[in-house]
Amino acid sequence: MTISITSSTSAPEKVKADMLAIPVYEGRELGVGGELARAACGGAGLDAFMVGAGFEGKVGSTITVPVSNGGVAAAAITFVGLGKREAVTLDTLRRAAAAVARRANKVTTVATTLLGAGPEGADSGSVAQAVAEGVHLGAYEFLRYKPEGKPTSLTKVVALGGGNAAVVKAVKAGLARGSAIAGAVIRARDLVNEPGGSLSAVDFAADAVKVGKASGLKVTVLDEAAIKRLKLGGLLGVNRGSTEPPRFVKLEYVPPKQAKGNLALVGKGVTFDSGGLSLKTADGMETMKTDMSGAAAVLAAMSVLSAIDCRVKVTGYIPLTDNMPSGSAVKPGDVLRIRNGKTVEVLNTDAEGRLILADALSLAVEDEPEAIIDLATLTGACMVALGSDIAGLFASHDGWGQQVKAAADRTAESMWPMPMPEFYKPLIVSDVADIKNSGAGRYGGAITAALFLREFVGSVPWVHLDIAGPARAASDGAYNRKGGTGFAVRTLVELCCSYSKP
Ligand code: BES
Ligand code: MN
Ligand code: ZN
Repeated sequence: MTISITSSTSAPEKVKADMLAIPVYEGRELGVGGELARAACGGAGLDAFMVGAGFEGKVGSTITVPVSNGGVAAAAITFVGLGKREAVTLDTLRRAAAAVARRANKVTTVATTLLGAGPEGADSGSVAQAVAEGVHLGAYEFLRYKPEGKPTSLTKVVALGGGNAAVVKAVKAGLARGSAIAGAVIRARDLVNEPGGSLSAVDFAADAVKVGKASGLKVTVLDEAAIKRLKLGGLLGVNRGSTEPPRFVKLEYVPPKQAKGNLALVGKGVTFDSGGLSLKTADGMETMKTDMSGAAAVLAAMSVLSAIDCRVKVTGYIPLTDNMPSGSAVKPGDVLRIRNGKTVEVLNTDAEGRLILADALSLAVEDEPEAIIDLATLTGACMVALGSDIAGLFASHDGWGQQVKAAADRTAESMWPMPMPEFYKPLIVSDVADIKNSGAGRYGGAITAALFLREFVGSVPWVHLDIAGPARAASDGAYNRKGGTGFAVRTLVELCCSYSKP
């Protein structure tokens, strides 16, 4: 059951709902609707009650109080913290909305005045979008394999506020946009959370065909024979140890009117990464069903472009395989020939992502896009550098890098610029081939991986996002759940919509 989010200009006290959610700033300063909420909850005693419960108005904290004095049509009031009033951002609203959705997981209808708590100067459409995203993402749970698990019972959220017709229109559009984008993030999370054993390359490709049909994308699936014909030597090499065939998915979004640019998205689709013969430890393997997070982000983001009327031509390139050890697996020391003709010495079979991305980037370049962005759970080294919540951003072109960073900042997805110095290039020079797939030594592993990828993008402005950390959450967060986060879907959508030729 999905949650429907509508808007209403009714007065908060008039709305019949199981719960009315009212924002509160740090210091227990009540936001829009606060005074009537106070009256409905016993008046002057409310503050003492909050103090007693330890509720201070910190971002995303909640406290629920039954309506005792009447005057409000809702059955209960949930106060949700926004932190310091002057520090409120769109992401604060996203987090608060998520907290409301979680607090309301046992009821069916919630009304909220969160729309009225937007940061100074923010347009009402963006505020509504953030609230809608927060509600959907906060309510998300992966229950496919928990038959006893109870999904949220929340089905309806009424966002109160508005004013004149233009504002109401902007709010409605923002809620619709936020709901669509959150739906895409959830699609990515579901794919990432699906076990490697039940989401092979073939399964992922079949899902892409289904999703593409439903969302107006042209989908081309290359099977193993086609992949051989196209000489995708990296993908074939990584797949050699597997009992499951590889796939390569190409997704095409063509806007209805004249396209305002032409952008390529590339996503690493390793459906399970055991490391291959350079086998991972048992611990290191535990989360490796998530190694197709880049692929999931590309598919999910593209699935919503038509619904939000993106004006840019976008093409997705998704190489898919698992990475397994076996008698037929690629051996350390083997040399593979990538689509663009470059040869790679495979010294560590666990550095497989760059091998399949090399083919995908080569193919993307052949289609002559104006710009490329790739997303990959590429290196543990990137997590060492930036921690688990920040993606590494590598750019071959300053303007394009800044454009991606700006889009990420607007969606509050954390990315940090990383260097790609030419003087580290010797670290990936091979004795027997053009380059080798693992740097000399462990240091700078995220950078040597990016330098490797750079060999396959020619002169097209290119950004590489190493999302090894943020693609997966180790515990529940404000609007993330433990597991797949759908990281970068929101940034990709924002980027596609706001794209200008770098
Ligand atoms: N998929 C992993 C990277 C990864 C590690 C993602 C942890 C998320 C969490 C990637 O294929 C990998 O194994 N990279 C190696 C590269 C090394 C062998 C050069 C790594 O980071 O250790
Ligand atoms: Mn690996
Ligand atoms: Zn991997």
